[in-house]
Amino acid sequence: MCFCGRDYERNTRPVDLGGGFAEGTRPYYVKNLLKIMFKKSVLITGGAGFIGSHVVRLFVNKYPDYQIVNLDALTYAGNLENVKDVEKQPNYVFEKGDIRVADFLKNLFEKYNFDAVIHLAAESHVDRSIENPLAFVETNVIGTVNLLNAAKNLWKNDWRDKLFYHISTDEVYGSLGKTGLFTENTAYDPHSPYSASKAASDHFVRSYHDTYGLPSVISNCSNNYGPNQFPEKLIPLFINNIKLQKPLPVYGDGQYTRDWLFVIDHARAIDMIFHQGKTGETYNIGGFNEYTNIDLIHLLCDIMDEKLGRPKGSSRNLITFVKDRPGHDKRYAIDATKINKELGWKPSVNFEEGLSKTIDWYLENEEWLKNVTSGEYQKYYDEMYGGR
Ligand SMILES: NC(=O)c1ccc[n+]([C@@H]2O[C@H](COP(=O)([O-])OP(=O)(O)OC[C@H]3O[C@@H](n4cnc5c(N)ncnc54)[C@H](O)[C@@H]3O)[C@@H](O)[C@H]2O)c1
Repeated sequence: MCFCGRDYERNTRPVDLGGGFAEGTRPYYVKNLLKIMFKKSVLITGGAGFIGSHVVRLFVNKYPDYQIVNLDALTYAGNLENVKDVEKQPNYVFEKGDIRVADFLKNLFEKYNFDAVIHLAAESHVDRSIENPLAFVETNVIGTVNLLNAAKNLWKNDWRDKLFYHISTDEVYGSLGKTGLFTENTAYDPHSPYSASKAASDHFVRSYHDTYGLPSVISNCSNNYGPNQFPEKLIPLFINNIKLQKPLPVYGDGQYTRDWLFVIDHARAIDMIFHQGKTGETYNIGGFNEYTNIDLIHLLCDIMDEKLGRPKGSSRNLITFVKDRPGHDKRYAIDATKINKELGWKPSVNFEEGLSKTIDWYLENEEWLKNVTSGEYQKYYDEMYGGR
């Protein structure tokens, strides 16, 4: 019997893990079949997105005794090609679905009897949040509360060995001046609709821990970069523009400062927090790696000139300064001492190394970039899962 991806679905249908039995009447042996096959059943939301796809890959490969269920609505930011390399693994299942729909989640939790949730699904782009804040409330706030309710209802009689792990951002802390770092005790002060929605979702997670006893943990991470990031975000957008010799639009004076972390190091941190973090706690994750936007763009231009065999400095001519984003936070910087001291995590690559790997990936994966920018990638689900 093959338990891989779609085959798994097909093979388990006759014993019915989803419908067929009236609510709550599914036989004991069916409910526990997965418990025998796998040590844990872990729901990862947003696993077709940028960070989620790296977390899914790490967990599927590193923990063959965990069943990993990747739940994603496949919005413009979700791309199943990001997890193509693990889709045939016996411990991987993909479920298309929307965290805004509470009934769907109830059935999903009942179907898989999850032990843990790693929640990454979100609307994640600040510029889009300024255009349409309500979409961010619906997915990031209501979607998170729907997930909390589904977990609470499934686990409420026995919290042992359960975990709701919520992935958040350093943007909830607001903006720093020239000095200082965000610690886990920094007061929340979000400025964009995106960060406000993430802050609200963090508060709900804590409130479920404090009110109902839901075992939960939160991590707040700095800006990520690396392979598979949707090219609306700064680094992939600029790699693509430099390659095509298109203008590089820089907000304001380019002096905004961000703390950059390679996405694979974020996934490693998530793995450590998931396994060793204390429930009820918050962990900040960052690279101790601050760059102003303009310095970062200069570095990107110079590495790409070298890789593309262009005269040194030529790509810098593409830089054009554009009108600032409203409510733009000046500086973010994370103090990652707690995760370093308590769990022993630290970044595995320095910025130039990570940036160089990232540029190589985008240059080697032109097809991925072309599919993403043209919208072609959205056909992949229909081709692979259309019959479901
Ligand atoms: N990118 C960063 O630098 C960064 C830094 C810190 C924290 N985070 C957080 O990490 C998480 C992942 O960020 P990302 O950059 O990978 O985002 P992303 O936009 O690349 O991916 C988000 C994923 O969520 C899915 N999704 C969106 N709405 C959904 C819904 N209603 N139901 C189910 N799935 C839905 C999308 O299809 C997509 O696959 C987010 O919670 C974000 O706030 C991101």
